[in-house]
Amino acid sequence: MSDLKISNLHKHYGGFHAVKGIDLDVPSGEFTVLVGPSGCGKSTLLRCIAGLEETSQGTIEIGGRDVTYARPRDRDIAMVFQNYALYPYLSVKENIAFGLRARKFAEAEIEKRVSRAAEMLAIGHLLQRFPRELSGGQRQRVAIGRAIVRDAILYLFDEPLSNLDAQLRDDMRVEIKRLHNELGRTMIYVTHDQIEAMTLADRIVLLRDGLIEQQGAPLDLFERPKTRFVAGFLGSPKMNFVDATATRTGVKLADGTTLDLPGQKGLKAGAAVVLGLRPQFITVAGKTVAKGHARVPAVIELLQPTGSRVQATLPLGGASIVAELAAHDVSKPGEKIHIDLDLTRAVVMDPQSGQVI
Ligand SMILES: Nc1ncnc2c1ncn2[C@@H]1O[C@H](COP(=O)(O)OP(=O)(O)OP(=O)(O)O)[C@@H](O)[C@H]1O
Ligand SMILES: [Mg+2]
Repeated sequence: MSDLKISNLHKHYGGFHAVKGIDLDVPSGEFTVLVGPSGCGKSTLLRCIAGLEETSQGTIEIGGRDVTYARPRDRDIAMVFQNYALYPYLSVKENIAFGLRARKFAEAEIEKRVSRAAEMLAIGHLLQRFPRELSGGQRQRVAIGRAIVRDAILYLFDEPLSNLDAQLRDDMRVEIKRLHNELGRTMIYVTHDQIEAMTLADRIVLLRDGLIEQQGAPLDLFERPKTRFVAGFLGSPKMNFVDATATRTGVKLADGTTLDLPGQKGLKAGAAVVLGLRPQFITVAGKTVAKGHARVPAVIELLQPTGSRVQATLPLGGASIVAELAAHDVSKPGEKIHIDLDLTRAVVMDPQSGQVI
């Protein structure tokens, strides 16, 4: 059964068309992550689902019920906002209990639910404190606690971790994943963070300019993007794009290098194309060239170490590309090396339409 079904949803803000016809079906228990560039309509879509924005056209069903015109409180949703406003004059416990009290839950039930949520989020020792006495990460947990004590069909999160530092984000990400595993609830989660999207999602929905560009399992989008936009949006460092000319069996780069692309179909010899190569699928040459790989010489221009890996900038066929290499495989700029390109993972795109061929 689907917990959320959106059909042909549009949202206009005055003359501005922010959501341009979205269809989305979220099965019960699924963790769906919405990603896309700033301004593409992620928050708007979430706010329409929550009933905080009126929709201009289309329908929204939650738990099999048409809620397109229902008030937010009648939609069976719980939401965590980016700025997680807590009530400053209420203790942590009362902040978490707030929605339950408003719904006239019995005291014993409130106690039970608050302690369970506090235990899951490891904030049991903070229940008597006030928001100003908490760190950012602790406040964030309280905001999440406030949402999860509720019995909702749908849990909505709008960039809940964006105000936290890197370490806390990592910890909270694990926490949210655990929460989803334990509760088995249907969650829709907006983020800018690639790692959050890839690690949390059962399904990623990538929005572009008010429309869904592609949706699917994280690896599906990563390995089989349908457009240049998807290929370039997911993955960090981002996919390299190199202008090339199609041959019968692969591509020819501007400097004359030819690359055979195993399994690549639909190429028209002589046509202009763009070759896409992920930095992660380039390695420093070893003893042998693996099947489907091509070995080319390269001179390192720039190195950006990130710990065990290093991002190397180097020229390839007239373009400047980035390769994510093992830190110990390279030493300094100017070094001459050979690199192996995993062409089984390459994608070829039409430069005009942006479609993957
Ligand atoms: N109340 C409003 N009135 C007019 N335009 C709005 C309003 N709210 C949002 N918009 C516009 O709608 C578009 C989508 O906004 P939205 O907040 O949904 O983007 P987003 O994908 O959440 O972006 P971000 O990643 O920056 O949070 C933007 O161009 C924004 O300027
Ligand atoms: Mg937003």
